[in-house]
Amino acid sequence: MAKKISVGALISGGGTNLQAIIDACLNNSIDANILFTGSDNPGVKGLERAQKANIDTFVVDYSQIIRSCKKGIKETDLPKDFNLEEIQSKQQLVAGDASKEQIAFFLKSRAIAERKLLDIILAYDMDLLVLAGFMRVLTPYFIDRINTDPGMYKIMNIHPALLPSFPGTDGYGDTFGYGCKVGGCTVHFIDYGEDTGPIIGQKAFEIEDDDTLDDIKKKGLVKEWELYPHCIQKFADSF
Ligand code: GRF
Repeated sequence: MAKKISVGALISGGGTNLQAIIDACLNNSIDANILFTGSDNPGVKGLERAQKANIDTFVVDYSQIIRSCKKGIKETDLPKDFNLEEIQSKQQLVAGDASKEQIAFFLKSRAIAERKLLDIILAYDMDLLVLAGFMRVLTPYFIDRINTDPGMYKIMNIHPALLPSFPGTDGYGDTFGYGCKVGGCTVHFIDYGEDTGPIIGQKAFEIEDDDTLDDIKKKGLVKEWELYPHCIQKFADSF
């Protein structure tokens, strides 16, 4: 067996993808160990799944942080190494029709949350960070502090559609709404855009005429659980 890579995971909810990765690690079908699982949401099932597998867990409560930022952000609340102009020039998350103030608020409030994530994550010796149903976008502030080796991507995401079709938060809903006859999921690296980074792997499934959105989600998740461990192994093989 090859050397095992150390993987960190971020989740927001039920964590069935996380479970598939935990299982693949435990039964040695991939050369990986999970170091920690972090969530932006307290009390979610995915945290329980990690704890059951004796994996360190933590929460950075994004909703609470954003609520408190809405009352006002002081210069001292921001990470010491945060440079708004720099992050603004790199970011591709917020569309051009947003006001300067909206963009600044978005980037500042997310950097405050991301610094809290980084303070925990960077204490681990991590090879790869997987986003397993993590429903927050990551800004260049966070990405640049994880991707420190030039040209090497270290953050993976699973998206519930066949990218580049249907980026955004509701891949299966958009696939269903468009009337597609094929759906799928994509594992890709994270770059500065939303669901735009290099594709690592994809799996497709057929959609029957009488399939409901629920059927599509069920078919999709089964594919996700196969695809994510496979893509982590691909990363481990190239490591
Ligand atoms: C998955 O469909 C994933 O693609 C999407 O959110 C869902 C999370 O499911 N981003 P789970 O938390 O892994 O069960």
